[in-house]
Amino acid sequence: MNALSASPSAPVLAIENLSVSFERGGRRIRAVRDVSLTLAPGEVVGLVGESGSGKSVTMMSAVRLLDPRRARIEARTLQVAGHSVLDLGKRELEDLRGPTVSYIFQDPLTALNPLLTIGRQITEGLRRHRGLSREGARARAIELLGNVGIPAPDLRVRQLPHQLSGGMRQRAMIAMALALAPKLLIADEPTTALDVTVQAEIVRLVQRIQREEGMAMVWVTHDLALLARLAGRIVVMYGGRIVEDAAAERLYETPAHPYTAGLLASTSRLDIPFRDQKPIPGSPPDPGEDIRACAFAPRCSRATDECRTAVPPLRPVAKAQSVACFHPLTDDRA
Ligand SMILES: Nc1ncnc2c1ncn2[C@@H]1O[C@H](COP(=O)(O)OP(=O)(O)OP(=O)(O)O)[C@@H](O)[C@H]1O
Ligand SMILES: [Mg+2]
Repeated sequence: MNALSASPSAPVLAIENLSVSFERGGRRIRAVRDVSLTLAPGEVVGLVGESGSGKSVTMMSAVRLLDPRRARIEARTLQVAGHSVLDLGKRELEDLRGPTVSYIFQDPLTALNPLLTIGRQITEGLRRHRGLSREGARARAIELLGNVGIPAPDLRVRQLPHQLSGGMRQRAMIAMALALAPKLLIADEPTTALDVTVQAEIVRLVQRIQREEGMAMVWVTHDLALLARLAGRIVVMYGGRIVEDAAAERLYETPAHPYTAGLLASTSRLDIPFRDQKPIPGSPPDPGEDIRACAFAPRCSRATDECRTAVPPLRPVAKAQSVACFHPLTDDRA
């Protein structure tokens, strides 16, 4: 049985003032800077931002997936379903992963053990956490593989990861991640490596299961357009910080941060406004630099001296919309 329990109304994820850095070649890489993010049970959040903006490091820190010898993690609060992950021992962390939180990676090969059959990798969790018999767990594994659209699941269950195609492996990893119906699913660009058709199928699949199970989810992606169908709330990261956090509808209609507006402008989907499709000029900040300003200022047409000398705090500008900008594009209080 799972030794960990928490009140059902506790946030599934509570991050307050998280900063994460790495030592690399004698430099300190500031991957995540003062990030706060809370998710209610059942909430679906899309986490977007350019490559290197700190999305994976934020989410991996929350689940303690980073090597503690390499990453320096500091946070006022870092809780999953009410449990302080920084205080948990190895055993307690294992109890948390699976029934409470699961992580789907971009590359299924990082999560799947190449030496164990797909079936074995799914049944292990079921037996450990659900106390199922060998036969019971196997039957459930076959059912789960069928649920994620894997044909002939009774055959696949006996195969090794390399015997499956990329799309099938991704489905198998999703089946594994969902086997214990976690309260929180973190999907870290799980479709980036797949072709567009398979990508759409996987998105629909995860969406269906999310609705059926009512689980909370963080979907990490570069692709704002993809999130339009998926997320109720969007969080935008830039240079290791959250620059905007808003209800999805609001964000697509009235982005407040110039960077969000830029992302929307460079998105290619036709069902979204702001479709001039021009990439944001300039390049992202150097994570090795200790920036005491708005990291987006060098690329921002609205930047003033204030932006170049102080870090704008994340503050509400409307109902269900917060932005870290001294000159937001929208301010309902103005
Ligand atoms: N183990 C590590 N050691 C050193 N630096 C790291 C490590 N992991 C991440 N970083 C650095 O931290 C920063 C944030 O990386 P992160 O992987 O969170 O970005 P991301 O937003 O997930 O990007 P992508 O969209 O490419 O996945 C980057 O500058 C990255 O190089
Ligand atoms: Mg990433």
